[in-house]
Amino acid sequence: MAKGKINKATPPANRLWGGRFTSGPAEAMARINASIGFDQRLWRQDIAASRAHCRMLIRQKIIPARDGKAILRGLDAVWKEIEGGRFHFRAALEDIHMNVEDRLTTLIGDAGGRLHTARSRNDQVATDFRLWVRDAIDGIEARLRDLQATLIARAREHAATVMPGFTHMQTAQPVTFGHHLLAYVEMFGRDRGRFADARARMNECPLGAAALAGTSFPIDRRMTARDLGFDRPMANSLDAVSDRDFALEFLAAAAIAAGHLSRLAEEMVIFSTERFGFVRLSDAFSTGSSIMPQKRNPDGAELVRAKTGRVIGALIALAVVMKGLPLAYSKDMQEDKEPVFEAADTFALTLEVMTGMVADMSVDAKAMRAAADGAYATATDLADWLVRAGGLTFRQAHHVAGRIVKLAEDRGVRLDAVPLADMQAIEPGIGAEVFKVLGAERSAASRTSEGGTAPRRVRAAIAAAEKRFLAKPGRRGRGKARARR
Ligand code: ARG
Repeated sequence: MAKGKINKATPPANRLWGGRFTSGPAEAMARINASIGFDQRLWRQDIAASRAHCRMLIRQKIIPARDGKAILRGLDAVWKEIEGGRFHFRAALEDIHMNVEDRLTTLIGDAGGRLHTARSRNDQVATDFRLWVRDAIDGIEARLRDLQATLIARAREHAATVMPGFTHMQTAQPVTFGHHLLAYVEMFGRDRGRFADARARMNECPLGAAALAGTSFPIDRRMTARDLGFDRPMANSLDAVSDRDFALEFLAAAAIAAGHLSRLAEEMVIFSTERFGFVRLSDAFSTGSSIMPQKRNPDGAELVRAKTGRVIGALIALAVVMKGLPLAYSKDMQEDKEPVFEAADTFALTLEVMTGMVADMSVDAKAMRAAADGAYATATDLADWLVRAGGLTFRQAHHVAGRIVKLAEDRGVRLDAVPLADMQAIEPGIGAEVFKVLGAERSAASRTSEGGTAPRRVRAAIAAAEKRFLAKPGRRGRGKARARR
């Protein structure tokens, strides 16, 4: 974010568009109108797009080369000022576009006035914002990949660590912790796919649509599109300046991904309680209580869970702004930026926190194993065994296993501690081999179907996930040239 103060003083009339105005705006009007407080974040993209536009104007002989060169040098100077925190952002100049252009003209004189030839702030802002969202996607993509890499590394350590799997938050069947972590690797993989899809679809250049109708100047839209790393110019000028679906897609992808992150965070909270004791979050990702000395609170996980609300809120906010807007540009669209910035910042932070938390947590494999052994998690294995070995239908077997579980429960013992004779009293066909299927480890190891939790399946899934998600991207497909500077 560029430093530099915002000067709230309002001049009589705007130097860039004030020709037909006799007075400046009311103070409240100036405040509601100005976007510089937040859109100054677009300064890199704004200058990059102006450079591309200027180079095209020179090449097409729309502006004199000498003025064009002065503009390019001036834009370099503005870049350095902003980068160095020496730029004075002025609210009276509304937005980043006019702040940059005004400063350019102050630096190089009247030639600066030629930059806006064959351009409007409408196509300018649409271009800048696409460039920004594209960069944001690349940043998030890298963080999602980091999180996947961390989850995969922890899954490898715990490919054979048995824990109870849950449905309805009730103990269901034994699974391995590695398998559990890999479930999130899949979710984040689809999230990356959604961001990549959004990126591919949004990578078309609005520049040259001008205000809404195109322009009578002989511009070369292919040149500017290429220069800025877009695949092609947008096909319709009205659409180019008036849709923000690319921002909505970004927010939708972020909202869904943040939802996944929030579920993982929720499990961190649950698994780190003393009741569960499956994991212990590191000091670096826990906080203490100001009154209760014994406490280790999972505030990081709770905040990741909570901040998801902002990301989802951002999607709703922009969807509501956009619905019902007639073509083409309306100032409503200026409200696109804050939700996107907020969501991008929040999501990036929560990803970073979660990656650190997962990398750092210690896992209590004994506690997991004890929980898996203790809660009748192998009742399904008993029923399956009765089908296989005893020739019962699954429904009969389900009933028999249920009665044996009830017996164990009444006596307060584990399933494998019910004496064989008592089991035989319920179902005479049961033999001593049954005890082999009543252990949690054996149960998990038996789930060898594709996508199942058996350690050997999990190890294979880890190798596959590394290939699918962590292999370096090829030259094609990803990481198209960033906006040239
Ligand atoms: N600050 C404006 C925005 O973010 C730039 C475009 C303004 N265009 C206009 N015709 N007022 O949308």
